[in-house]
Amino acid sequence: MIDQGQLFDIGNFKNKTYRAIRHDVTRERQSNYCNTVHHPDQKINQIKNVLNNYNNLKILELFAGKGNLTSVYANYGSVVANELKDKVYKDLLKKIKNIKQVECNKVDSFLYFHKLISQKKHFNIIDLDPYGFPNRFFPDIFLLIKDGFIFITMPKPYVNILNGITQTHLSSYYGNPNPSMETIIDRIAHWGLCHWRRIELVDYIDCKSIWRFAFSVKKVKATDYTGVNNRKKEANK
Ligand SMILES: C[S@@+](CC[C@H](N)C(=O)[O-])C[C@H]1O[C@@H](n2cnc3c(N)ncnc32)[C@H](O)[C@@H]1O
Repeated sequence: MIDQGQLFDIGNFKNKTYRAIRHDVTRERQSNYCNTVHHPDQKINQIKNVLNNYNNLKILELFAGKGNLTSVYANYGSVVANELKDKVYKDLLKKIKNIKQVECNKVDSFLYFHKLISQKKHFNIIDLDPYGFPNRFFPDIFLLIKDGFIFITMPKPYVNILNGITQTHLSSYYGNPNPSMETIIDRIAHWGLCHWRRIELVDYIDCKSIWRFAFSVKKVKATDYTGVNNRKKEANK
């Protein structure tokens, strides 16, 4: 058992705890775009299982990276694929150059999704696959989807180093500095209801330090969902 407080000197990492070194290694792997942090095979299998026989879908991929998932999504319909990092974006363009139904944007998705909302765009599939927490998309991301599925990558809070900033961030979104998977799923379902979307978890996979959730999303009528009748109609009876 490793002592969490013990300091190590390993390679370029000097005088750091085991957790801090593990954190730095993950960041390095992310910047080198290693598949060990992206888990493309597991994500692709999940997409294929959930989307199965669907076609003609409108898909929004907000963190497309080099297009591991983009080329798979293109089998199910048209794809809007966003990527911010210049070098990665160029690789994305190369990967999809022979696929007609993909539109790529080099944008900051945390800002760009507000633009899509203001344009009243709608999609059947939304994929949120950032490196960190996707919390800043909630609840308004649900305005972009009335009927379909949302795939969400969620870092497991308890395997990450929770400094004061992360704890405050998680408390403000989940009411808990170290929320469990159940709390996170429950919160996402409630965020759906902020915009009258019924959210149901249809699948999740466990990939080391992240979960990948697949939720079905369906717009519901507030009156039907709550069983509360329109007061005017009641009065006219
Ligand atoms: C986890 S990776 C995506 C991996 C990809 N979905 C795959 O399976 O291969 C996250 C990607 O988001 C990009 N990114 C980071 N910040 C971004 C932002 N604000 N808007 C759009 N893309 C961003 C990163 O450059 C990185 O390629």
